Amino acid sequence: MAARYNAETKTFILETAHSSYMMKVSRYGNLLHMYYGSRIPDEDLDYLLTFSDRGFSPNPYEAGNDRTFSLDFLPQEFSGSRSGDYRSPSLELVWGEGGSAFGGKVAGYEIRKGACRIDGMPGLWAEPQEQAETLTICLADPVSKVEAELSYTVFAEKDVIARSVKLVNRGKDVVRLEKLMSATIDFRDSDYDLIYFSGRHTMEREFRRIAAADGVHAIGSSRGASSHQYNPFAIVCEKDCGEDRGQCWGISLVYSGGFLIEAERDQYKQLRLNAGLNPSGFSFLVEPGGDFQAPQAVLAWSDQGFTGLSHIYHRIFRENLCRSPFRKKMRPVLLNSWEAAYFDFDDEKILAIAREAADLGVELFVLDDGWFGKRDDDVSGLGDWTVNQEKLKIGISELSRQIHEMGMQFGIWVEPEMVSEDSDLYRKHPDWCLREPGRPPVRGRYQLALDLSRRDVCEYLIEAMNSLLESAHIEYVKWDMNRSLAEAWSALLGTGRQGEVLHRYVLGLYYVMDQVILKHPDVLFCGCCGGGGRFDPAMLYYQPQIWCSDNTDAVNRLKIQYGTSFAYPVSSMEAHVSVCPNHITGRTVPFGTRGIVAMDGIFGYELDPLKMTEEEKDACRKQIQFYKKYYKVIVDGDYYRLASPYENPYFTAWQQVSQDKKKSLVSIVITDREGNDAQRFVRLKGLLEDGYYRIEGLKGKYSGKLLMSAGIPVPGSLGEYEGIQLVLKMA
Ligand code: GLA
Repeated sequence: MAARYNAETKTFILETAHSSYMMKVSRYGNLLHMYYGSRIPDEDLDYLLTFSDRGFSPNPYEAGNDRTFSLDFLPQEFSGSRSGDYRSPSLELVWGEGGSAFGGKVAGYEIRKGACRIDGMPGLWAEPQEQAETLTICLADPVSKVEAELSYTVFAEKDVIARSVKLVNRGKDVVRLEKLMSATIDFRDSDYDLIYFSGRHTMEREFRRIAAADGVHAIGSSRGASSHQYNPFAIVCEKDCGEDRGQCWGISLVYSGGFLIEAERDQYKQLRLNAGLNPSGFSFLVEPGGDFQAPQAVLAWSDQGFTGLSHIYHRIFRENLCRSPFRKKMRPVLLNSWEAAYFDFDDEKILAIAREAADLGVELFVLDDGWFGKRDDDVSGLGDWTVNQEKLKIGISELSRQIHEMGMQFGIWVEPEMVSEDSDLYRKHPDWCLREPGRPPVRGRYQLALDLSRRDVCEYLIEAMNSLLESAHIEYVKWDMNRSLAEAWSALLGTGRQGEVLHRYVLGLYYVMDQVILKHPDVLFCGCCGGGGRFDPAMLYYQPQIWCSDNTDAVNRLKIQYGTSFAYPVSSMEAHVSVCPNHITGRTVPFGTRGIVAMDGIFGYELDPLKMTEEEKDACRKQIQFYKKYYKVIVDGDYYRLASPYENPYFTAWQQVSQDKKKSLVSIVITDREGNDAQRFVRLKGLLEDGYYRIEGLKGKYSGKLLMSAGIPVPGSLGEYEGIQLVLKMA
């Protein structure tokens, strides 16, 4: 059994194939965190709890004169506010006449098959139910009558534990919730490093590693989206943890809005990790009899270093997250019109580009921004999701028909959550956007955000998107979101409830996506938020792939995709070949290298094929054929980071190995060259030690053990920014 309770030792035990997670009910009913790490036998862990009288660490009343029992020191599963624990709590609330303490004690538990359903939000699912088991522990506060239901869904075989919390108000007073963390993990010590992924627009998810230090180190977003600035994923690891060895713990929040992940090293050098909704500016009124659900946090542990941890996340996100049937289907190679034409096109130009794309072997043509409303630049038109007749005289349906005639599928760009002031929608419903009364709104890319906390706005969007999808043969939708939210004020929510707006916006978005995306299982949806500003597991529940970054510079992409790969599988990252000099960085990189880097994801193009040289067209055809030939290895294979763009100044390398380990693809890109350079080698990974492999283009065959121990020479003939893909096949 993946979850059980040992009544003798009063211990809750969660077990996965390689890990154990244990909690214990204290002698006063508190739920203490005992252990998360390598799988251990069911033993009494009481000896791990040490007690001493610590100055200024208060004691619960029920401890009588025992000054050694203090929540300020003990490791907890869920830290209540004003309870004598001064670390950053899991919960903050106000109820009745202003009471803000929560002294939740274990009041019961339940274990059942299947995953925990997260009300109104995406989460990991188990089908069949036997894939997971859920333990729910109820912590009840007898005075406020508030209960916290902690849920732990154990995917035993996949080494994953998904946590969430539901706050239930069983009292007579309204409770104002001000903070609710989805997961709190108290480590007994703190000699760890923290890893997180930060960045900015066009440079997302850069790898950062710092030592845990006294105080609180927090990452998060208050932008209404999970953000370019910090990804809702973090790792705590041992100091000597690296790619292949060492213990590490991952936490990933299945949420697309403002979040907080904080790591606090306390006065006793213990580390607390908290992850959940961003409490800044947040409050939520929970009526008597009502409840509030926190988003899901996905936990994983590995002693196989970051590779082990990544493989756990890749697998669970590939198999138990996305609802779309495209999760398992081969995705088409696409060409997107954005960098080819921006806003400057008409139907003739689009058809000419499409014709050329079809000739190259592209399978899906995507018409990006600019096809609707009065949209000749980014100042106007958002909100009016009907065709711009001046640009596309033949209309979307006919355009799609002609593109299908060329042998390609047809896709389209939308940005449903936004509105331009110069649009019919805004003129009709100026109150439908987020803004504070009496103040001019804050603009982002000239546009305003629709108030998705309102049901009427959501219903309008569902209708608009569904009619668009029914109006033509559309097989792919790029769902964009191009600004950070600023104001959190909704015309329909009363005073006292405005702190709910940003969370309600996210719930509204999920509702719209439920009604649009999940109702169209035959349409492939791609997430986007100015590139990767909303690259999170909740979006991957709806959309199997996300546009990784607006930055298509292959050298910058090495870092962006490297950082992304820690939590997210190749199947989730859309990556395109674009022109050089690159539109963002001005850098020139060989066409071949651009292809190699874009094949580290769901492959496509973002350029005008009419402007390609014959040589490039030839290379393009070969790239498409190669990608399709090795699609299963690239997208479904196990992923290995061989050389980091942060640590290795000379080259970056990665490798995919097919599930049966018979095929592998090694990609190397040179990032710097020196005169009379050293011969460098790269050690391969994930092969069968006693299997023999042939490397295409080379003579002989070599054992997996040799290739993983001595490595292969990085070809000295490659110049700066040149790259190579090596195909390995078992002999
Ligand atoms: C965002 C996207 C781009 C493109 C533009 C269109 O920036 O990330 O790929 O679709 O919007 O306006």
